[in-house]
Amino acid sequence: MKIGIILGSIRTERKTEAVARYVHGLAEKRSGDTAFELVDLAEFDVPPLTTSVHPMAANKSYDDAGVQRWSDAIDACDAFLFVTPEYNHGVPGGFKNAVDSLGPEWVGKPVAFIGHGSVGGVRAIEQWRQIVANFSMPVVRSEVNFNGFTHWQDGEFQPEDRHVDEVNGVFDDLEHLTRTVRD
Ligand SMILES: Cc1cc2nc3c(=O)[nH]c(=O)nc-3n(C[C@H](O)[C@H](O)[C@H](O)COP(=O)(O)O)c2cc1C
Repeated sequence: MKIGIILGSIRTERKTEAVARYVHGLAEKRSGDTAFELVDLAEFDVPPLTTSVHPMAANKSYDDAGVQRWSDAIDACDAFLFVTPEYNHGVPGGFKNAVDSLGPEWVGKPVAFIGHGSVGGVRAIEQWRQIVANFSMPVVRSEVNFNGFTHWQDGEFQPEDRHVDEVNGVFDDLEHLTRTVRD
């Protein structure tokens, strides 16, 4: 099983990077045969969706090289952990555009969420739960919410000890759901 941990911010000096790298570090310490890959959205340069072909009808073949690499990376995963910031009470536009830019690569694959923002990214995650329903993606109920005030000190990400168990709990649930869907 391969789980893609998607770093869902494309801003320069983005805080999501520290959160995603912390989560990926915990993932790599887990026992078992699941492979965890950090998928950094910013590395793909996914352009605004302007194509006339609906991504669901594109047969995973795209004119734009960045979108094709993004498609290949997502297609190679069995399940996902979205690490998402919250912008203006919703999902970040760049991440939403990248999700919109693909189709069958997402379909039916389980997904879990870790958010951060002033109130832990909870509103962004609630929106993601609605969005991924259109790809029939089974969702993990448990989530972890990092607070933009209490979990950042002097510009440094400061997770609490409890977060180790909380993040691993999300991975436990995601692996279990992925096995259930696959079998
Ligand atoms: C354009 C913008 C809008 C934001 N709006 C919200 C918001 O509505 N609610 C919230 O909790 N945090 C909001 N934030 C704070 C971000 O969630 C927080 O700063 C997060 O760390 C940003 O992730 P990033 O640095 O990876 O982009 C906003 C940040 C930006 C840049």
